[in-house]
Amino acid sequence: MYCNSGLSKSPAGKEGVHAGKKLITRVLERIYPLHDEVVAVKFVERGYYQKVARELEEGSRILEVGCGTGRFIQTVTEKCYGIGLDISDKLLRIAKERLEEHPFDCVLGTATALPFRSNSFKAVVTFTMMHHLTDQEKVTALKEIARVSPTYLFGEVGKNACWSAVLLKIIGSKKLIRKEIIERAGLKVREWHDMGGFCLIFGRAERT
Ligand SMILES: C[S@@+](CC[C@H](N)C(=O)[O-])C[C@H]1O[C@@H](n2cnc3c(N)ncnc32)[C@H](O)[C@@H]1O
Repeated sequence: MYCNSGLSKSPAGKEGVHAGKKLITRVLERIYPLHDEVVAVKFVERGYYQKVARELEEGSRILEVGCGTGRFIQTVTEKCYGIGLDISDKLLRIAKERLEEHPFDCVLGTATALPFRSNSFKAVVTFTMMHHLTDQEKVTALKEIARVSPTYLFGEVGKNACWSAVLLKIIGSKKLIRKEIIERAGLKVREWHDMGGFCLIFGRAERT
């Protein structure tokens, strides 16, 4: 489960990771088959994962923060290599099985203290992870992302998503990603597409 190549010591440590795991992640651990079969399948069918995957450079080393069971990474295994990080050991175990034959390692850790050296990746991706964090945690996580890579790509829950009406009731609309939060962390937002329907926001930000 732990990969040693290119890793620095996580300031959070294993205890920190467990303490940082929130109710929403514990719920996800229980309903991951539903997430995988309903949400992730929809993301594949509608080409959402592929939309972010297209932005990645062929042969590049990437990191997905909040990789869950590895569904997004599965779409880029022919193109890239690297690491999937998540705060849930249970979800990572599934990711590890899913990615067994592929050039990706699974690392237990938290977005707010990435256990990697500066500039270790060509790009960092998050897919529907940021709404798990408070604004302060988002800024800390985004600073960490900017430290380990010059490029940040994301797919995130948008306000207009039909299915997110329920989610927003649970997490509160304040948890949604905002350009201002990304820029507060020292990244420049280069692209921001808010899609309709089963809506997600897609974006690209770069280190200034
Ligand atoms: C909605 S799931 C998305 C999983 C995956 N990106 C996908 O598209 O299938 C959100 C993921 O973020 C992870 N997560 C939540 N807080 C985290 C944190 N502080 N650090 C790392 N991962 C976190 C959860 O454990 C969960 O796997």
